[in-house]
Amino acid sequence: MNSHTPQTITIDLADRSYPIVIGSGLLGQPQTYADLPNASRALIVTNNTVALLYLQRLRGALLSKYPQVLEVVLPDGEQHKTWQTLNLIFDALLGQGCDRKTVLFALGGGVVGDMTGFAAASFMRGVPFVQVPTTLLAQVDSSVGGKTGINHPLGKNMIGAFYQPQLVVCDLDTLRTLPPRELSAGLAEVIKYGPIADLAFLDWIEANLDAMLARDPAALAHAVKRSCEIKAWVVGQDEREAGLRAILNFGHTFGHAIEAGLGYGEWLHGEAVGCGMVLAAELSCRLGLVDRAFVKRLTALIARAGLPVRGPQLSAEDNAGRYLALMRLDKKAEAGEIRFVLIDGPGRAVVRAAPDSMVREIT
Ligand code: NAD
Ligand code: GLY
Repeated sequence: MNSHTPQTITIDLADRSYPIVIGSGLLGQPQTYADLPNASRALIVTNNTVALLYLQRLRGALLSKYPQVLEVVLPDGEQHKTWQTLNLIFDALLGQGCDRKTVLFALGGGVVGDMTGFAAASFMRGVPFVQVPTTLLAQVDSSVGGKTGINHPLGKNMIGAFYQPQLVVCDLDTLRTLPPRELSAGLAEVIKYGPIADLAFLDWIEANLDAMLARDPAALAHAVKRSCEIKAWVVGQDEREAGLRAILNFGHTFGHAIEAGLGYGEWLHGEAVGCGMVLAAELSCRLGLVDRAFVKRLTALIARAGLPVRGPQLSAEDNAGRYLALMRLDKKAEAGEIRFVLIDGPGRAVVRAAPDSMVREIT
């Protein structure tokens, strides 16, 4: 894919369908937003890091469509994905007289995107919103598919709603300013799609990892496009995670436990997912679902991407017990039984339980 030619992928959900536009220079072009609903006001939600980089560019583009473009700048960080921060969005909406036609724009990574989506889902029982993801992680995963929400001290993403955006704008140019650690975190979610759904993509990632780490525009463009295609295929079949969509949580059961157990923001979400995929692959191997060679292959790739491959210690007294307790709170758990996304042969995922004793051996 030529990174200069915008590509469009459609999320096919009947009357809630929407386009994901991927390309270079999109964020600051008024044309990008031409088909959105008209309104007297737009509200850009961003954070104090991204505001300095991209807020004025987006604002400038939106002013040609909306008479008033308002903004709210949230504190940056996973530790701020809370009720208190969410309330700052409602304060801005209500304090500035926004109505049910006001369009919200999420400008930033997954934290801003998830919170803005949840605010859009609940303000006046639902207003339109647009995702303008500026991290690799958000472009390949979080901005697409309508999962929105906030964390609770006891569990990750525990409060939220399914609520689809009107449009997703993936401007690849924004990836140039991303810190290296954040680029690696995004690669975790790119890698995820290979083992669960597309072995040819896993081969491509292995061959192009160095190019992506060097921010080669064509390599990043292909990674975003293929990831969004796979996610669109999954979400189009199972929007509300009745079954299939759970495969997108490969690595997340362990990963969410790591994030909550260490304290939000200690490890990046993508780092926890990278390590979580290694643990889930190891569990798959011990259950006889996949061979050791595949675990080694995946572990090597995750390490090459600059991600941790060893689970951190969450408790000095009973580390495995702490992992198990945190994972029992996972949204996939049923009647206290943890359900893991496991690799059932390369390129295919399955959701099932595993004996606690086996989980204890690997944590
Ligand atoms: P993030 O939103 O915290 O962004 C990472 C960091 O990069 C932040 O400090 C941010 O300010 C900064 N940043 C953003 N864009 C930048 C840019 N272009 N240049 C420089 N700095 C930039 O983290 P994230 O990794 O984007 O998202 C993680 C969040 O996404 C987690 O809360 C996770 O639960 C959520 N998530 C949601 C879904 C979903 O389906 N809704 C899927 C995956 C992850
Ligand atoms: N990131 C997992 C999902 O969207 O279902």
